[in-house]
Amino acid sequence: MRFAEGEAFSEALSRALMHGTSIGGARPKALLVDREPVADGGLAERHMIAKFSLSTDPYPVVKAEAVAMNLARRVGLNVSSSELVIRAGRDVLLVDRFDRPGTLGSGPGIIGQRRIMVSALTILGLSEEQSRYATYPQLADEIRRRFTDSKQALRELFSRIVLNILVSNTDDHARNHAAFWDGQDLTLTPAYDISPQLRPGQVVAQAMAITRDRARASKIAVALRAGEEVFNLKPDDAREIVDRQVHTIREEWDDAAEECQLTQADKQLVWERLILNPGVFHPEDPDFDTYGS
Ligand SMILES: Nc1ncnc2c1ncn2[C@@H]1O[C@H](COP(=O)(O)OP(=O)(O)OP(=O)(O)O)[C@@H](O)[C@H]1O
Ligand SMILES: [Mg+2]
Repeated sequence: MRFAEGEAFSEALSRALMHGTSIGGARPKALLVDREPVADGGLAERHMIAKFSLSTDPYPVVKAEAVAMNLARRVGLNVSSSELVIRAGRDVLLVDRFDRPGTLGSGPGIIGQRRIMVSALTILGLSEEQSRYATYPQLADEIRRRFTDSKQALRELFSRIVLNILVSNTDDHARNHAAFWDGQDLTLTPAYDISPQLRPGQVVAQAMAITRDRARASKIAVALRAGEEVFNLKPDDAREIVDRQVHTIREEWDDAAEECQLTQADKQLVWERLILNPGVFHPEDPDFDTYGS
């Protein structure tokens, strides 16, 4: 693994670990660049976001994110590549930045390259304060209007909602979805920040409403209702997307957990609590599920 061999990069990571270089957000993060000489005398760059665990984490937060990203990839979603490493006793999730694809520069000058991305919040024309009003149906309508290959993008977004529900990623607010902008059209970026959240109490809800009547309960039943109504999927098709994801998660859980270095204790904290919590398969319940905002 290049990460372990890159001395300079290890130093940068240690510095970030010590001083908590932050790019904003509640949790410690750092932007890192790994530069490696390549054959023609240039440098290959790898731009990453590093997310660190805290000793006060109530559950293995960073490993849970690592394994959720890993499972999302395994069920066939388009996901930022990521890797879990352990440094100085802390879990570190390294996520490759899709807005800074690996660049090859010749000689001393490195030609930077940056893809323009806009968050779903911006696409919906909402301000930070209005974030809680953003909904998946609104985003789906923008996809129909302004995205390349909207049919595929709608299917991908539906599949991301299903995965978010299956792994308890309830933090799926409008800044955790984004699209590339090429000056003309929008294209979904790879998924990022798939971060399982604790499920306190009985009411667990997604950050963005899923259906047109603004149901946001973290339940597969809600997603399936949106499949036809919002994402133009046939009911059988939506059902199959769900069944395939559940099957793959069950089949590949052990491999994913091993790849992300979860211990037996970590696995017990996460499996069927955050990942495939039985509650997500319960029917909708008007007495408990939150409607409106
Ligand atoms: N792989 C990526 N490539 C490029 N930009 C990214 C990537 N992952 C995240 N980002 C950008 O960085 C921001 C912060 O990352 P991320 O959402 O993972 O952090 P976070 O602290 O967990 O966020 P939150 O505030 O939602 O809890 C994102 O909103 C997005 O704009
Ligand atoms: Mg985020």
